[in-house]
Amino acid sequence: MKMLEKRILDDGRALDENTLLVDSFLNHQVDMVLMREIGKAFAKHFRASQITKIVTVESSGIAPAGMTALTLNVPLVIMKKLASRVVDGQYYQVNVQSFTKKTQYELSVLKKYLKEGERVLLIDDFLAMGEAAIGVSRIMNEAKCELAGIGIVIEKTFQPGRSRLDDLGFDVFSLARIAEMAPGHIRFM
Ligand code: G4P
Repeated sequence: MKMLEKRILDDGRALDENTLLVDSFLNHQVDMVLMREIGKAFAKHFRASQITKIVTVESSGIAPAGMTALTLNVPLVIMKKLASRVVDGQYYQVNVQSFTKKTQYELSVLKKYLKEGERVLLIDDFLAMGEAAIGVSRIMNEAKCELAGIGIVIEKTFQPGRSRLDDLGFDVFSLARIAEMAPGHIRFM
């Protein structure tokens, strides 16, 4: 997506070889005009996939996922990152490790928002190690839903997430694919 690549080059900043700062339009301040175009691009790619629901993981995935849900006219479910397990059985929960942030959390969603047989599209801001997406896929298995697609705003192709998700057979579609970066330098695939 040319508009997104241009924005990354203009306003993104590679902190080092692994971390891209996009606070000015995606992670902190959010450019909703760009998000609208991102929503249209995901909707165009996944329109034939009979999506019944969008899911995302809080918090930076919410804006692009919301615009995608609006364009496809389906509900958005925001998966929560809880610090500990809930024992009353209302939630699907899986433990997810974040290598980038060196934390772990219980990815959680109320069971009533995932009905058996739903076709779910995951939208997220970054794909790094693929841990969040694999956690979502485990919840979809438990809920007997189909993870029908994964839409990523910024994929770092040099990290393992993409090939892990490809190996698991998911339909992964990324709008910007960064092949390498370093301070002052960003190269797309
Ligand atoms: P993974 O899900 O692909 O395995 O990714 P990983 O655990 O390594 O990192 C997850 C968190 O780190 C996510 O934020 C993701 O947005 C963020 N992240 C990964 N790579 C980058 C990067 O290059 N730049 C920035 N700015 N963030 C990155 P999160 O914990 O879900 O929090 P939030 O930002 O959505 O609130």
